[in-house]
Amino acid sequence: MKGDDRRYLLAKETVDDRAFDPGVRRRVRTDLAGRSGDVRLLDAGAGTAPFLRRLLDWPDPPDLTYVAVDADADVLRLGRDLTAAAARDRGWAVSDAGVFDGPGETVGSLSLRGESAIDARFVRGDALDAADAGGWTFVLAQAFVDLLGPAGVDRLLDGLDAGGRFSFPITFDGGTAFSPSHEADDEVLSAYHDTMRGDDRLGSRAGRRLERHLGRRGVEFVAADADWAVRPVDGAYPADEAYFLRVIVDTVADAVWGRVPPATRTAWHAARTAQLDDGRLGYDAHNRDVTGRID
Ligand SMILES: C[S@@+](CC[C@H](N)C(=O)[O-])C[C@H]1O[C@@H](n2cnc3c(N)ncnc32)[C@H](O)[C@@H]1O
Repeated sequence: MKGDDRRYLLAKETVDDRAFDPGVRRRVRTDLAGRSGDVRLLDAGAGTAPFLRRLLDWPDPPDLTYVAVDADADVLRLGRDLTAAAARDRGWAVSDAGVFDGPGETVGSLSLRGESAIDARFVRGDALDAADAGGWTFVLAQAFVDLLGPAGVDRLLDGLDAGGRFSFPITFDGGTAFSPSHEADDEVLSAYHDTMRGDDRLGSRAGRRLERHLGRRGVEFVAADADWAVRPVDGAYPADEAYFLRVIVDTVADAVWGRVPPATRTAWHAARTAQLDDGRLGYDAHNRDVTGRID
């Protein structure tokens, strides 16, 4: 990813908000809302933990032990600070919750008391190691599963207790498109998708490969499209979505270095950057929103 990860992840939030499938999100709410007792949720590859802040706005948030695990301590610290501020804004009492009793380094924690009781830990480490520790009732992996292969997906699912639930929103499933069209799009975007290939990764077709894998395991799940769509309105982008789009354009151009002729890459990047600067560039990416339970 080219750019400031923290700013990119925050800029992504409004794009994700439009992308989520309402039916699949309702199912996640039904699985979690109003629950009490020992709900242990692992947010794998949590980034700035946007799920937790969205959950604070539910009318009936569950009592929860929430553990955000990410390889990047800086995004986690930002997530902790934003969540503390959001909780205070909503009138919740905020204090420290102590360290996570599991693999990784706790870089922050929050005890949140309001509509429900939530203990949150922000842990720098490997999300799959945290899953391996087991004892999870819910595993969330948003915009993360496309980095994994089937074995990684199995580690996330195997960390769940019997009857546990999982949610894999914004799982990339190929189909990157920019508008207006450019004569080098086919060459550049096909080379870009090729960079995601690898025996150990679900890659650019992660959504459909994930669903086939779950089907082969006999896992019960629902899934729907959750596509990203970014459009300028009267020559300007909403929220910080111009930054989001700049990171995407730079990332694509960077990824295809050495895979397409230099002149093609330079021309494509220059044209897309100029369209973005002029507020004329549109972008779509195809994702899947997948949630289910294991027996
Ligand atoms: C595309 S971001 C998604 C972040 C967040 N889930 C969201 O949707 O905003 C993927 C995140 O996975 C993290 N990551 C990648 N591999 C990881 C691993 N093995 N264990 C933990 N985090 C990892 C990255 O640091 C990054 O923050």
